[in-house]
Amino acid sequence: MYRTHTCGELRSTNIGIEVMLAGWVQTVRKFGSITFIDLRDRYGITQLLFGEELNDQLNENALGREFVLQVNGTVSERSSKNANLPTGDIEIKVSSFSVLNRSVTPPFTIQDDTDGGDDLRMKFRYLDLRRHEVKKNIELRYAVNRAARNYLHENNFMDIETPFLIKSTPEGARDFVVPSRMNAGQFYALPQSPQTFKQLLMVSGYDRYYQIVKCFRDEDLRADRQPEFTQIDCEMSFVEQEDILNMFEGLIKYIFKQVKGIDYSETLERMTWEDAMWNYGNDKPDIRFEMKIANLKSAFKKDGEIIATGELIHGAGFGVFDNAETVVAIAVPGCSEYTRKQIDELTEWVKRPQIGMQGMVNIRCNADETFKSSIDKFYSAEKLKSIASFAKARAGDLILILAGTEERTRKAISELRLELGQRLGFRKNNEFKLLWVLDFPLFEYSEEDNRWVARHHPFTAPKPSDIGTMINNNPVIENPADYLKHPYANIKANAYDMVLNGNEVGGGSIRIFQRELQEKMFTALGMSKDEALHKFGFLLGAFEYGAPPHGGIAFGFDRLCAIIGGSEGIRDFIAFPKNNAGRDMMLDAPSTIDEKQLKELSIQLTVQ
Ligand code: AMO
Repeated sequence: MYRTHTCGELRSTNIGIEVMLAGWVQTVRKFGSITFIDLRDRYGITQLLFGEELNDQLNENALGREFVLQVNGTVSERSSKNANLPTGDIEIKVSSFSVLNRSVTPPFTIQDDTDGGDDLRMKFRYLDLRRHEVKKNIELRYAVNRAARNYLHENNFMDIETPFLIKSTPEGARDFVVPSRMNAGQFYALPQSPQTFKQLLMVSGYDRYYQIVKCFRDEDLRADRQPEFTQIDCEMSFVEQEDILNMFEGLIKYIFKQVKGIDYSETLERMTWEDAMWNYGNDKPDIRFEMKIANLKSAFKKDGEIIATGELIHGAGFGVFDNAETVVAIAVPGCSEYTRKQIDELTEWVKRPQIGMQGMVNIRCNADETFKSSIDKFYSAEKLKSIASFAKARAGDLILILAGTEERTRKAISELRLELGQRLGFRKNNEFKLLWVLDFPLFEYSEEDNRWVARHHPFTAPKPSDIGTMINNNPVIENPADYLKHPYANIKANAYDMVLNGNEVGGGSIRIFQRELQEKMFTALGMSKDEALHKFGFLLGAFEYGAPPHGGIAFGFDRLCAIIGGSEGIRDFIAFPKNNAGRDMMLDAPSTIDEKQLKELSIQLTVQ
């Protein structure tokens, strides 16, 4: 036997008992003839006291950080208590000990604020995982996992595994491919998600499926993206959108309750995609704060119409506004007294290539209800007042205005809003705001290929009222400059995203379940009949054998955990993540393989 208790367990009620503990040496402190050691395991830290009588033995076995130690001793009251540690009232008076294993000096200290850089932490991830900061994230991940499984099980969902070696059908991200030795020259792909399998399970009658499953996407990485990540993947039969929204609103609330003890009692706000774009400039708005966009002029297509007002700003002879496709503003609360330097810095911020604006206009809404602006020359006080009122600015606010092409400017104002929200402390990571974004467009226009691409994926059903438009119109885009006028640009999908604090944590849709409509969808995406059959014949075939109406959703499990844990970076919520170049620093993967392996796989490299 190695231990009777863990290092996080003993309290003053245990004083006087004999115990056995095992763990890692966190620190060694010598005070004259006595030695204190903090012993750590997964559960916590307990102080050990080595008296003078053990000195000889200690001198023989010099203990260092991260040694694995087992001790026998008596729980005693500490003379100086540590209120920061749950075990801080006691210590173990050691009677005997043994070193179970030694450790070389670790490359960084195993503490909350480690001195290891990111690369070092990843290279020695097994040591990094010993740190409390990382461990609590991994624990949180497990708690979310358990809560999700409980809820889904209680609601009759069945966990069914689906294969990882599948067929490559790139649509969306790039596939990771795996060469087949037994089928020379042929490749499997790793699934970007189990999408088609879960739909086939619906055809098979397993009407409530779930899986907490790895997905693989070869895409550019960011803080919230990994090449292999995990989804809570779900599908249901005989459901409409409303059923799915209710079921998964239930899931997220259950998770919050179980994991954080938070009663998220309000019904999730539902926002159309158009409203999200119009008011926040993106499809995953952070609604922890207001600062909505004021659309002074816009080329955005809302309710099927292109909106291009501009009465307030036109005719003043200010070319930047007059000539811009889109002019948008935000009123930043309480910032009218920003210094020139602060405003210049913000202007530089929007001019960075990632944001790509030419400049920024400001209007200060002074406390005495006067206005001071960088465009005073063009706009009268009266006009500035009208603009301020349109932007819903109050005395003391600073209005920031961007102008340019629609897509870039809307994106830029959205980024600026988030940046200022962050700087002003409106984006608190212990406050949680959920919402559904609904009614996405079914298609997006690909300039590169001059064709439609599926905004969600090719299995998403159009709104029933738009099916006619889809069937009765030719998807070909005759005039790329006018693609917005094509009837397909207005088709809305029965698709929904769940957004948490400005992050897309889940997305799904009601699916197409009839062969004809699915074929039409593939045609709309520019696939020939043969290509559709080659790639998705199995699904089209299955739809001929009584496919039920169905729909589902997948949550980004890593993202969900990270945000619940108060972070937007998902890496620290994954035990063994990859870095931003897609490398596993610990394994040093990917790596070359030897000639023999390549030969077996019938692969010849063009790079050495
Ligand atoms: P989607 O592609 O929207 O939908 O993915 C679902 C959720 O997965 C998360 N996610 C990611 N997380 C980390 N790293 C990535 N590279 C990454 N990519 C996506 C996001 C996203 O909301 N089959 C459909 C679901 C469905 O229709 O049921 C799908 O995969 O949080």
